[in-house]
Amino acid sequence: MGSASSAPNAPPCAGGGGASRRGAGLSRSGEHKRAQRAARPQRTMRTLPLAHELRARLDAAAGLARAMRKLDRSACRNKPWKKLRNMVQWSPCVVSFRKRYPWVQLAGHAGNFRAGDFGRILKKYCPSEQQCLERLVCDALQPYVPAYYGVVERDGETYIQMEDLLSGFDAPSIMDCKMGVRTYLEEELEKARQQPCPRRDMYDKMVAVDPAAPTAEEHAQSAVLKPRYMQWRETLSSTTTLGFRIEGIKKADGTCNTSFKKTRQPEQVTQAFWDFVDGDRRVLTSYLERLQEVRMALEQSEFFKTHEVVGSSLLFIHDQTGLARVWMIDFGKTVPLPEKQTLTHRLPWQEGNREDGYLWGLDNLIAILERMLGE
Ligand SMILES: Nc1ncnc2c1ncn2[C@@H]1O[C@H](COP(=O)(O)OP(=O)(O)O)[C@@H](O)[C@H]1O
Ligand SMILES: [Mg+2]
Repeated sequence: MGSASSAPNAPPCAGGGGASRRGAGLSRSGEHKRAQRAARPQRTMRTLPLAHELRARLDAAAGLARAMRKLDRSACRNKPWKKLRNMVQWSPCVVSFRKRYPWVQLAGHAGNFRAGDFGRILKKYCPSEQQCLERLVCDALQPYVPAYYGVVERDGETYIQMEDLLSGFDAPSIMDCKMGVRTYLEEELEKARQQPCPRRDMYDKMVAVDPAAPTAEEHAQSAVLKPRYMQWRETLSSTTTLGFRIEGIKKADGTCNTSFKKTRQPEQVTQAFWDFVDGDRRVLTSYLERLQEVRMALEQSEFFKTHEVVGSSLLFIHDQTGLARVWMIDFGKTVPLPEKQTLTHRLPWQEGNREDGYLWGLDNLIAILERMLGE
């Protein structure tokens, strides 16, 4: 859960109210070209290591995103855009950024986020994530990741500035699905073996879920090693059996559920999805179409082919207007492969092959939604 932070002053948005790549592949449209022509260098960026031209493209992409979302919304309903919202605090999921709408961090590390300018959020700087977001600007996946606005500093801390995917929705429901058959990198396993560091906190978490899970030795030490804990945890959820797991759901009515650690069977996932969409087939159909688009983009993506993608999530967001979208988020554990190595993302993982099961998981997720819709 991120901590509440005051929003910085709101300078005029560089790149302006442009839309981005949202949804329906308008990135090559005339609108996009106009946005590109109008784009100006980002004024709030400090240490952004990007060429001027690339920054202009980033701004244009960001602008186009917002405009697309507006188009999406007016297609769904004909109401004026609600600009001002009250600050809301829904413990434990909703973070009260001093923004014009509530912001929700469903999963991830506490204190990792703070408010950015309107429509943007700041995530604590992580070099691998920043590099990924930068590379993704020119990739087939670009419409399906948050727009990237470079790196900024606030109160002596460095942050990655990115699009707030919630900003175009009206009282959204949100689901975070962590993708892949494992949530740790091969290099983390290796490192843990070289410097075994027994973890009391992980032992406590293990015992809380299943007192019989630790071995006699682990009980004696009241500690477990991190990779052991991670592997154990993944056998509880659907990560190893389906290649994804639900991390959390927050619904428009304020209810929030992050206890999916033991949600393992397809039937349980199905139930969670029906509950998430309140039985609305229209929303589910939009999600399915969007997931199919994401899969096509993944299959074409150079970035995806050449990276081990671990711990990344699909963020599902919909609201009562029927607008429903999915984005890829969290590239903190996404790392480039050695030159010339590529991954299928579908083959089973064996230590050393670096396969992450991302596409296998997405295939399973799509199959579940197709079954739900009787397709
Ligand atoms: N670009 C975004 N727009 C809106 N919400 C986001 C965005 N990125 C992350 N979040 C929210 O924050 C949560 C944690 O994000 P994540 O990037 O996975 O952080 P961590 O690296 O701490 O795991 C997500 O589940 C989602 O609720
Ligand atoms: Mg995460």
